[in-house]
Amino acid sequence: MRRSYTGVPVSRTFSRRTLGPLLAERDPEIAAAIQAEEIRQSEGLELIASENFASDAVMEATGSVMTNKYAEGYPGRRYYGGCIHVDEAERLARNRAKELFGSRFANVQPHSGSQANMVAYQAILEPGDAFLGMALDQGGHLTHGHPLNFSGQFYLPVAYGVRREDERLDLDQLAELAREHRPKMIMVGASAYPRLYPSAEIRQIADEVGAKVVTDIAHVAGLVAGGAIPSPVPHSDIVTTTTHKTLRGPRGGLILWNEKAYGKALNRITFPGIQGGPMMHTIAAKAVCFREALDPSFAEYARQIVANARALAEALMALGFRLVSGGTDNHLVLVDVGARGITGRDAEVAMETAGITANKNTIPFDPEKPMIASGIRLGTAALTTRGMRESEMAEVARLMDAALRSAGDEAGLARIAAEVAELASGFPLYVTPAA
Ligand SMILES: Cc1ncc(COP(=O)(O)O)c(C=O)c1O
Repeated sequence: MRRSYTGVPVSRTFSRRTLGPLLAERDPEIAAAIQAEEIRQSEGLELIASENFASDAVMEATGSVMTNKYAEGYPGRRYYGGCIHVDEAERLARNRAKELFGSRFANVQPHSGSQANMVAYQAILEPGDAFLGMALDQGGHLTHGHPLNFSGQFYLPVAYGVRREDERLDLDQLAELAREHRPKMIMVGASAYPRLYPSAEIRQIADEVGAKVVTDIAHVAGLVAGGAIPSPVPHSDIVTTTTHKTLRGPRGGLILWNEKAYGKALNRITFPGIQGGPMMHTIAAKAVCFREALDPSFAEYARQIVANARALAEALMALGFRLVSGGTDNHLVLVDVGARGITGRDAEVAMETAGITANKNTIPFDPEKPMIASGIRLGTAALTTRGMRESEMAEVARLMDAALRSAGDEAGLARIAAEVAELASGFPLYVTPAA
């Protein structure tokens, strides 16, 4: 029998994990919100590129007694007693992260990807220092230099971007900017770039100008872990990531590095620099996620995410959509819906009404403001977790196309929503635990 990557058999029977009776009794309002969210996730098609569905085991660890424990410090050197068991969990998480990504060192404490990035910046830069980061309207993340983010407030971002003609990273521009500004750091990575980064070439440029390379693999971490795309770990001074996107773990951050000399600064800046007590329940869940990702089935999952993204891209292009850069090499597809005469904002609303969740996104050289945008960003990690494959991607493309054509037509969108629910019902998310 075919199984989804959460281990649930793929069948036509719709089932869902139910909350235990406790919460419904003690806090019916929150229980109702969680139950409704579970139904939304189960019955819709999740195409937000930064989201995924963590396994039952990851969620069990997240909801465990480790949430009760204060453990400031690091294993063996804590500011609190009673840390013997959380020490074990953190050691396991750290060792598994190192094994998974082939790095010599890891810090599993960052609460999020943004915190992991803040640590990396502080380890390399002084306030006011320049760094190179991907332009935010061309795929870069807030923490790569947004004026309202710490990265844009405390440091001096210099933006590199993509070429107008093929919407791929402009390595010549990056090299020119590096020679001109001689930054101490080049931040590599993005939230909305469907292609691969040439890590070895960027390393060369960095070495030429004496810059450190920080690679933020928040989006593609699962693809790197599963070997579906090349690893930037050997070419980077520091690698930061989230654990909840393609990596499919709990919501959190992670820092990896190879040179011992960075360790003191990275660990000290994480705690006590920018964080207090680590979230030990989340760290335990990260360990569970890393173990899952070390299983050979995860390599297969990662490969399928990329195959699904390619299939989705091809199906969309066959329906006449223009894709940024003409396709994808990872989990992400950026659709120029503006070329179809609809804004990203309106497309997002039409799709959501039809049960397809995605987000509006600027495209390179976008004539629209970010809150309106000309693009829709799609990702295949979550649907792949449900067990969907290439043939379902063609169906998803058809449903998306139909939703955009029905924008503003509530009855039409309701009919598509029923088709979406029917497709989703064949790929159950969580099973109801046995009584
Ligand atoms: C490239 C990149 N870096 C960092 C982050 C920040 O992660 P978090 O939301 O956990 O702070 C994100 C999140 O979207 C991201 O896409």
